[in-house]
Amino acid sequence: MNITSQIKQPIFDEMELFEKKFYESMTSQVALLNRITYYIVNRKGKQMRPMFVFLTAKMISGGTVEERTYRGACVIELIHTATLVHDDVVDDSNRRRGFFSINALWKNKIAVLVGDYLLSKGLLLSIDHGDFDLLRIISVAVREMSEGELLQIEKARRLDITEEVYYEIIRKKTATLIAACCALGARSVSDNEVVVEQMRKFGELIGMAFQIKDDLFDYTEDAIGKPTGIDIKEQKMTLPLIHVLNTCTTKEKSWLINSIKNHNKDKKRVKEVIAFVVNNGGLSYAEQKMIDFQQEALAILENFPTSDYKSALTLMVNYVIERKK
Ligand code: IPE
Ligand code: IPE
Ligand code: MG
Ligand code: MG
Repeated sequence: MNITSQIKQPIFDEMELFEKKFYESMTSQVALLNRITYYIVNRKGKQMRPMFVFLTAKMISGGTVEERTYRGACVIELIHTATLVHDDVVDDSNRRRGFFSINALWKNKIAVLVGDYLLSKGLLLSIDHGDFDLLRIISVAVREMSEGELLQIEKARRLDITEEVYYEIIRKKTATLIAACCALGARSVSDNEVVVEQMRKFGELIGMAFQIKDDLFDYTEDAIGKPTGIDIKEQKMTLPLIHVLNTCTTKEKSWLINSIKNHNKDKKRVKEVIAFVVNNGGLSYAEQKMIDFQQEALAILENFPTSDYKSALTLMVNYVIERKK
């Protein structure tokens, strides 16, 4: 059995029911919207966020989930989908999950509105059922994700990002939503605030590793279902590059900065920058940091008793850094 089926085994029924509910949660009276949401659900992603929700809920409760656990998982996946639709507009990216992105097919105007629609559907799903404790967890994540993407743009313009700021960006734009998955999974079945906080922290740490992995993909030519090599084109400085900028000579640094500032659309030059980062240990440095976050996440899981759900979560933690897409 491959690793993802192994992870899904203890939450197989929940994930099946989730998919049905997720699709239903998107429907609209507007035909154009339905066409687009149909397109989206047929190109589903890895669904790691709902998996985190259900595994956490079952680990904490000892095997049961509630209706509100499903709603929470749907809200999070709706919001995740909305941010991807918007992110591809922001990053001017034409591929997602192995197919054309929404902006590539329907243009930016429609993509922005579809993202807003998905966000509002998510928030309403919580409100209509009075899941206000879960909505609070989710809303914090939504705010932080917008702040994270904007902080990233601010830093991309000034090209002065430090390793600390990089961590702040990825904590906000990515880790916060995975933290919300685990906090919400726990909260949906338990009132124990200590446990909810432990799981939030667990999700945050693994979310950090998750984004470092995503940023490492950008330095490869692997077929991951979305473009690679576009971070530098978008002047997005990620950990491999930040580390190399901190360790190279002044002359090399000027060349790197000048390349990113003035030649970021020149494919040959971007390739040279990527090669420079690879040859100067940028990837191995980032890999090590990713493993450090992963280990910290694993240490939190040690506080919980052995169960099939805990084993699956442990596999998930490893999958985050070993995945091929
Ligand atoms: C992509 O997330 C966005 C990031 C935070 C890097 P995923 O890699 O989980 O996207 P899908 O849902 O599987 O496509
Ligand atoms: C993560 O950043 C995006 C979100 C938090 C929405 P990226 O821009 O690196 O994500 P991908 O690589 O496009 O999926
Ligand atoms: Mg992007
Ligand atoms: Mg990326």
